[in-house]
Formats: sequence, structure tokens, C-alpha cells
Amino acid sequence: MVAIVMDGNGRWAEAHGKSVDEGHRAGARALRRTVEAAIDLGIETLVVYAFSTENWTRPSGEVADLMVLLSETIDEELPDLAKQGVRSRFLGRRDRIDPAIQEQMRALEDETASLDTLSLWIAFDYGGRAEIVDAARRLVEDGVPAEDVDEAALAERLYAPELGEIDLLIRASGELRISNFLLWELAYAELVFTDTLWPDFDVDDLRAAVEAYAARQRRFGARAAR
Ligand code: FPP
Repeated sequence: MVAIVMDGNGRWAEAHGKSVDEGHRAGARALRRTVEAAIDLGIETLVVYAFSTENWTRPSGEVADLMVLLSETIDEELPDLAKQGVRSRFLGRRDRIDPAIQEQMRALEDETASLDTLSLWIAFDYGGRAEIVDAARRLVEDGVPAEDVDEAALAERLYAPELGEIDLLIRASGELRISNFLLWELAYAELVFTDTLWPDFDVDDLRAAVEAYAARQRRFGARAAR
């Protein structure tokens, strides 16, 4: 399973003399391209970071533009990807998003529920710490006694328990940070950073990241065989 931090839309826009909104729109095109490339590479599950719990603090115009872009992506790009077998789901808190867009999100999830070529999770109003806090809250609400709280009990209360472990995290744009993405699920992920700004990310970047991953030796905390 592959996760991607789609970073660098703002810098791409600045470098091309375009507005930040145009940068995010180029980012949405890169997302579509990357999902298609992922299908070709045989990746079955892809999680992308589209909007963090902290992104609400951006200028209100940018937040509004991202909400419009989310709505348009659900209406236009994701149905096209569904024709290629892409099941789309959303990861994160939903209650702060416009109810009409929440309804679009639910409808898309329902309409694509039986598709299985590639499973796409779009993290939107997502924060790794918020996810763990929400899971802890559910443990309390479910009345789980302290002695029964273990990794499995918490993991099954995350937003999408079926996600499991992330194998490879890719971050675009040269930043070397996790930025509160999938903190629990990334525990043993291999990290690959590329200088490519997200709107320029293409099949060659994805292939290079997968090849770098394939060359790594994963130990999960154990001692390497000698
Ligand atoms: C980070 O770039 C990117 C975002 C906060 C938004 C990501 C959104 C997309 C890729 C569009 C597709 C998503 C939707 C709505 C489904 P940045 O703006 O932080 O770039 P910078 O660090 O260069 O300023």
C-alpha cells in the first residue's frame, strides 16, 4: 500500500506565475495521472493527503477554492477513474465540510463500492493525531476496560481499520516531513522523498519511488539476517 503527500502546488504556481488555485488545479490533474500510473504499476491501494486538519488555517479564499476543487473532482475526475475500476473513499473528519459536499462524498463512496482495480483513499480534513484521539474516544465510548486496550483494540477504531500498514510513503516537493499524516499506519513504512513538485509528478516519479522501495530491506524492528 502506497501513501503520498501531494506537496508543492503553491511553489509550482509561483514558479509558473500562476495563482495558488491554479497550482491546486494542476495538483488535481497530477492526482488523476498518478492514480492511472498506479493502476499500470499494479498498486492496489493508494492514500493521498489532500487537506489536513491544519489546512483550515490557510487564507479563507484558498480554503474555499480547495472545497470547490474537491466538489469538482468528485463530479468529474473520480467518476472517470471509476470507469477504470477505481473505488474512492475519504479518510478524515467530515463534519466541518459543507453538507452538500459531504453528500457528494457519500454518494461517490456508495457508487464505487464494488470496484476493485485500485482502492483510492483521499485524506481530507485528516490529521494523524486527530485520528488517534478519535479512536481513543471510541475506546472509552465502547466501555473497553483498561486491561483490554491494546494495539488491535485501538487499530480497529481508526477511521479505516481495513487500511492496515502503509508500505511506502512518498512525499513530493523536497520537504522531509510527515506533517501529521497517517501517524499510526506509517509505523514501519519506507519513506521516499522526491524534489519534484506535486503538479509535475508523473509515472516516472512513481516508478522510481516503487523501485527505491523494492531495493530496501524491511526489518520491522528485527535484526537483519547476516
Ligand atoms: C500542498 O501544496 C497541497 C495541498 C494543501 C492540497 C492538495 C490538493 C491537491 C493535490 C488537489 C487535489 C485534491 C482534491 C481537492 C481532491 P502546498 O499548497 O502546501 O504547496 P507549497 O508548499 O508549495 O505552498
